[in-house]
Amino acid sequence: MESTAGHARADKLKARLAAMAESEPAGPRVAESPIRLVRAPGRVNLIGEYTDVNEGWVLPAAIDREVWIAFQPWHRPEVELTSLELDQTLSFSFEALTPEHVGARPWIDYIAGTAWAMREAGLPIRGFRGLLTSTIPVGSGLSSSAAVEMAASWALADSQAPRPSPSAMALIAQRAENAYMGVQCGIMDQFASAAGSSGQALLIDCRRNESSLVPIPAELSLVVCDTRAPRDRLDASAYNVRRAECELGARLIGEREPGVRALRDVDVAMFERHRHLLPDNVAQRCEHIVCEDGRVMATVEALRTGDLAALGRLFAASHASLRDLFQVSSKELDILVDIAAGVPGVVASRMTGAGFGGCTVSLVRKGAEDNLVEAVRRDYPARTGLTPLVYVVQAADGAGEMEA
Ligand code: GLA
Repeated sequence: MESTAGHARADKLKARLAAMAESEPAGPRVAESPIRLVRAPGRVNLIGEYTDVNEGWVLPAAIDREVWIAFQPWHRPEVELTSLELDQTLSFSFEALTPEHVGARPWIDYIAGTAWAMREAGLPIRGFRGLLTSTIPVGSGLSSSAAVEMAASWALADSQAPRPSPSAMALIAQRAENAYMGVQCGIMDQFASAAGSSGQALLIDCRRNESSLVPIPAELSLVVCDTRAPRDRLDASAYNVRRAECELGARLIGEREPGVRALRDVDVAMFERHRHLLPDNVAQRCEHIVCEDGRVMATVEALRTGDLAALGRLFAASHASLRDLFQVSSKELDILVDIAAGVPGVVASRMTGAGFGGCTVSLVRKGAEDNLVEAVRRDYPARTGLTPLVYVVQAADGAGEMEA
């Protein structure tokens, strides 16, 4: 279904770009090159929240909500891109790529940042003129920015040059986000967008930067519920604070335990031995991370054995920990999880991503998706005054170029 819709969208995008090129006064700007098309998916994280920035494990899936770029490479060291959703054309020159800006950044900077990070990594980049469209809601925690970066990495790459592995490309896009955009995110979003696989979740070891595929049982659907609660740039600073609290915890424990480089190296028993060394807020953040790593592994096992009851317990424990210890949930996220808990056919439900608003992810028995959709549409507005969005999503393939 989605791939038919996807192809129709792709054809429309290419036709629009071709029409744009034709309506321009003839000039040397666009090379006589064929229109190319790249896509990159958003992601939903099944479990393992904030563990990536502590060198631990995460279990996201790329989803069939995607960013597409139709483009024509040209010889100028410059990108000019039109966002269909925003009806806005922005551009940047490779000569003026600088990570030192402060303040709000326009959307084109995700592409500029990717160009900057690719160049820093020694990869050849090419300018292009193109059109961008997306079915990933912006700012709802489904990694639209990582998808833009991954799609951009395909459009900017010199197609003659060897392409780095998906995990290496994810690191480059993460650098764009960290150093260019100023958000100290981990590797999960870019990695999932780069390396996802249809029908599967991705177990990522965020220290080794390696992954393995974990099939999602065929009897389960993924349902994403968006709180639609407003989020803003404050999220980025709260995110960076959480990350710093975890790093402080690892440093304080590491003063007594020489093998500890990150919270990944701390197990529950070791944490309990040293809890008294940590300020209360730091101890709470660390407790979440130390236990969440274990929940990721237990979830992989439960998916492999089809233990649906265990999935329910693990998601519930993760949500409670993010709410009470890590303190990144919100009233709206808690309400969505509460609604899901009473719906027949819902196996597991929790907040997903960085929190402070955004979405929940639920595992739902196939055929029961509408139960959840209806319950959320009925009960959530009454309890919050907000109108939710609910998506049934499929685990999708990672980013790439579409065949001509
Ligand atoms: C955001 C970041 C990820 C990860 C999650 C929380 O999505 O970009 O790297 O840390 O938050 O799990």
